[in-house]
Formats: sequence, C-alpha cells, structure tokens
Amino acid sequence: MWVSLVAKIVIIVGMNGVICDLESVNWLRGTSTDLTKALQFLREYDTEASEMCFRVNTAQWQYSTNMTDLLKRKMVEEQTLRAKFDKLTWKRAVVFDWTRISDPVARRQLKMLTTNTRASLSDEKYNEIYHLISEMKDIYATTRTCAYAPGIHDNEVTYCDLGLEDIQTIMAKSKDHKELAHTWREWHDKIGPPLKNKYMRYADLANQAARLNGFLDAGEEMRFMYEDPDFENELAQTFHKLQPLYKELLTYVRRKLIEQYGDRVVRPEGPLPAHILGNLWAQDWTNIADIVLPYPKFADMDVTVEILRQGFTPLRMFQMAEEFFTSMGLKPMPPEFWRHSMIERPNGRKVQCTASAWDFCNNIDFRIKQCTEMNMKNLIMIHHEMAHIEYYLYYSDEPYLFRDGANPGFHEGVANAIVLSVFNLKHLWRVGLFNTNTDNYELNINFLMLMALKKVAYAPFAYLLEQWRYDLFESGVTRMNADWWDLRLRYQGVVPPATRSDAHFDAAAKRHVPADVPYARYYVALLLEFQVFKVACQAAGQTGPLHGCDLYRSREAGRVLMDIMRSGKSKHWRQVIRSMTRGETDRISADAMLEYFDPLLVWLRNQNRDEKVVGWTTFKEDKALFQPLIYGGSGVPTAKLACIFVVVLVFIQFVQ
Ligand SMILES: *[C@@H]1O[C@H](CO)[C@@H](O)[C@H](O)[C@H]1NC(C)=O
Ligand SMILES: [Zn+2]
Repeated sequence: MWVSLVAKIVIIVGMNGVICDLESVNWLRGTSTDLTKALQFLREYDTEASEMCFRVNTAQWQYSTNMTDLLKRKMVEEQTLRAKFDKLTWKRAVVFDWTRISDPVARRQLKMLTTNTRASLSDEKYNEIYHLISEMKDIYATTRTCAYAPGIHDNEVTYCDLGLEDIQTIMAKSKDHKELAHTWREWHDKIGPPLKNKYMRYADLANQAARLNGFLDAGEEMRFMYEDPDFENELAQTFHKLQPLYKELLTYVRRKLIEQYGDRVVRPEGPLPAHILGNLWAQDWTNIADIVLPYPKFADMDVTVEILRQGFTPLRMFQMAEEFFTSMGLKPMPPEFWRHSMIERPNGRKVQCTASAWDFCNNIDFRIKQCTEMNMKNLIMIHHEMAHIEYYLYYSDEPYLFRDGANPGFHEGVANAIVLSVFNLKHLWRVGLFNTNTDNYELNINFLMLMALKKVAYAPFAYLLEQWRYDLFESGVTRMNADWWDLRLRYQGVVPPATRSDAHFDAAAKRHVPADVPYARYYVALLLEFQVFKVACQAAGQTGPLHGCDLYRSREAGRVLMDIMRSGKSKHWRQVIRSMTRGETDRISADAMLEYFDPLLVWLRNQNRDEKVVGWTTFKEDKALFQPLIYGGSGVPTAKLACIFVVVLVFIQFVQ
C-alpha cells in the first residue's frame, strides 16, 4: 500500500503525568513518485484552495465588519468546511513521497502540504484538537476581571466586567503600582487555571500529530517551517548579540522606575517587576516613556496636532500612504481596494476594529480594515497595513502555496521596515508634518529611546515565548509555569508581582499560546525589519545614521523591496536574503538593529557608568516567587530514574 510505516521508539517523559512511555510511531508517508499525477493533483489543489480561501475570507470579512450572530454562524460554517478540506487535501498529498519527486516546485509544494498539519490525526482527534483550540480562544476572549477597589470590603460589590482591552488600558495608563499589581494578578489568575487542562490535552494531540508527520514532537515540526536545522543556533547567536544593549536599557529604565516607585517596589540591581512596565506582558515599554524619556524638554515627537491642523481625513491619510509606495516605484492600490476597504468605523453596526490587511486569494480583491482615527499612530499603521497589501500584490501570480512571506517572519519584517522609514523624524519633516530641526542631538536620543522601548524591550519576550513552547512539547507539562518564569527571569529579567504556583498557567495570558499561533516569527521579523531596512537604505544611497534614513522617493529602494516581495515563498528564504544583500550573506543577523541603536547604546553606557550591575542579579527570593519545592517529594527525580531504567532495559533487549 501507499503508506510505509516507519517504526520509531520515543520516550515521553512527564506528558500528562505519564512517567515513562514507550510507543511505536507510525510515520505516514506515501511511496508514489508519479510526477504526472503529482502535478495534476497540485493543479486541482491550487484552484480549490484559492476558492476555499476566498470563501473563508469573505465570510470572515463580513463578520468582522458587521458582527451579527447570523454572520458569525456563517463564518464558523466556512471555517469548519475549510478544516475538512485541509484534512482531505492531506490525504491526497500524503500518497506521494515528496522527498523523491523530481520536480523541485512540486516537491516543495508537497512538502508544505504534508508537514505542519494536524490532518495526520484520526478524524476523531483532528476534530478534538480543532474544537479545543476554538474553546480556548473563546475562553480567552470572554474572560472578565474585577476592578481595583481599595477600601471595599468583602461583602460589597465591585465592578467585575473588565475585559482584556480595559486591562490593557489600565496597564498602559495607571501609575499606581497597587492598582497595576491588582490588575496584573486578576488577569493572570483568571485566565490560566480554566485553560490549563485543555492546553495539556492540546499539547498531547499536537505532539501525536507531529509524530505521525515524522517529527519527534510538535516543536521540531514548528522549527521545520524555517527549512534549516541550524536556524535555532543562528537565532540564539543573534539573541546573544542583543543582550548587552538590552541590559543597558533595562539598567537605565530600572533607575528611573526606582525614582518613580521607590526601592521597595523595584530592587536596585535586581530584575524588574512585570507589572510596572506599561504593558500586561512587559513586552513593550513605550507606555512608560513619560518616566524614562532622556530629555523631557524635547519630548514632543507626535505630529497628531499637525495632522489635525492640516485637516486630514482617513481617505487622505490612505492616499498619502499610497503615494509613499508609488514614490518608490511600487504598485498603486487597485480600484477594488478603494471600493471595498473599510477605512472608518461605520455607524449603526458593531465591527472588529483591529487594523488588518486582507488577501482574498482571487488576484483581484485586496482590502484593509481599519477604524482610522486622526492621529500619528494611525497614519503609521496605514503604511504598515498597506505594505502587506503590496506584498500580496507582488506575489499574486505565484501558486497558492507560495503566496506568503519567504519564511514566517518576512511579511511582518517588510511591513515594519516600511514603518522605520515613516516613523522617522526626517520623513515626517519631508512630508510637512514635523517642523522642528531634526539634527538636534537631544531630540534624536529621545527618538531612539522611544524606539528602543518598543523594539529592544521586545526582543527577549519575542524570543523566549517559543523557547517555552518548544520545551513544553519536548519535555512535557509538569513544570510548565515555573519554566515560563525561569525563562522570563533569565532572558527578560522580569519577575511576577505575586507568588505563582503550579495551579497557575501564566503563559496563557498571551493569546498566541491558547490560540495556537506560532511566535518565533515575531522575533525573526524584528531582526528582518532592520536588516531589510538597512539594505534598502544602502540601495537608496543614504549616508548618515541608520535611524535617519528615509526610503521615500527612492526607486532603488523600491526595487530591493519588490524583489523580496515578488518571490513570495517560492524560494528558500536564505536565497532571498542572499539576493537582497547582493550575495553578502544568507543569514538572519542582529547587526543592522545594533547599528540602528548604536547612538543610544553609547548614550546608555555613559548614563550607566556608575551602576554596580548592568543587567540584573538574581536572588533566591526572585526564584521563590515561582518555584515550587522541586525536591519536596514531588517524585520527579524518581520518575526520571525509573525512565532511564526502562530505557536501559529496552536497549538490552535490542542488543540481544
Ligand atoms: C449586517 O448583517 C445583517 C445580517 O445579519 C444584514 O441584515 C445587514 O444588512 C448587514 N449590514 C450591512 C451594513 O451590511
Ligand atoms: Zn502586520
């Protein structure tokens, strides 16, 4: 038959509390190498998948721009149909042995269809994981928490209907550390426990699917998306290179936070408490800019006043963004874009306002959905979303499976490279929105600080989230909360504002975890953003500091971007990097990001010169916040021993 069963022996430690389990794995892969049949299948798939994508996206669009129960039901119906279609597709694709298909394009497509899918699971389990994920997303979306109410006693009523958006606002705006700690705890205490058992089952099923696809666990399968076994090392190296900059930033920010909150809230030389950084996940510190900005006198970099004064409308902001792209020789937005996009919050119906860019997979229909408000943030966001549309337009002639970024970080990386050229004092000055002399040193340091609070502060979080998930898929769920905080302390230098235990599940506070959305892409995108920006700036012939580079009106820069976008996912991303750097490298690197922030690094080193500790020292009390007594009779060491014993026994059997 077409399925060859490759038996493997794997040892699972700790998953679902199982001490040690020996299991033979059936690796599903077909034997057919018939190229004609493969090409025939792929042609049919291409048409059907594009149609399916059109239907699902249309239903999703209708619901997001008109949130009624009826439209939600229709959307769920289409999504369920797609899940069935994916399952069917997998069955047809796995007949072939992609490793032995001679045509490289067909081989690449078949590989994509038979890896990174849960369709290898039985129908029953496939449905189960699909429903588990939607249940977890629902819980995440509907969790409510109670407001901070000092002085209220147990039997009095407090307001308990705060959703995630309200919480984010409080985390961003409040400077009352007790309110912040309360809000942080409410969310983490309420979101994790109801998700924990579901997530454990989900991890188990994801691993089963991965093993059927020929991987050791679901983490290995996720890494396989990057098509390079050395990729993890490459990322670890970039992380290592960014550490000194991150530590300087943290050290300076810590001093400012101590000035604000006192050394009873923030320990000098210690890690930062996660609740006072202006963000629920401590991943973006922009909201504490008012506390840490180096030169308050030059604080005003927001051009909103000018946008209002010049009487902009949402349409004019969109036209301005389009002109940015056409000035580089890139494509204008097609007529359908202008006809169908939603660029303002409509009256009389409920809509989902998160800004997003849509590809309807029919080579005609591309749209943005955004409830544009008249401010600088929205102007920048429009440029970002429109960059995604440019990407869609340039690869629209590729087969369905190649209509994507070269690797999962490319789309976001390119869109943010554009933003680096737009949220940029020189650019804002050139387009008549910023009137101050942009050569001022203090102004530039302020600007770089603001960028660092967003980008440099984000790096360790973006990196560690997936490390945690990889560890979990590999070694099981027994220590999942303590592991989460171990990583956050080690990489990010943050600690929770309250004691955590096994009953908590704090990683679930970030939507991407329960919603099953990969995260490594955001770290890759962060590096690519600067890397792409740098090569485009070089092509544009820009000299001077990188943070002052503006790509506006440079056709040469446009060509660099066009080449990246046009190949979509049809080529290995290493080839794309090699060609964009004109053969210089094919690696993801932190160098461009470090170059961008170099003036700030010099400034920070000077500011921190009297600090005893640049970075943070970890005390026992820090770890005690989240580490249960590991050796207090939990039996973990014994379980490990038992497992090793079984493995040795099996080994002896084999030898005999
Ligand atoms: C919103 O959806 C409802 C159906 O649920 C429909 O009757 C209504 O016309 C839609 N509104 C708009 C503006 O499309
Ligand atoms: Zn984006």
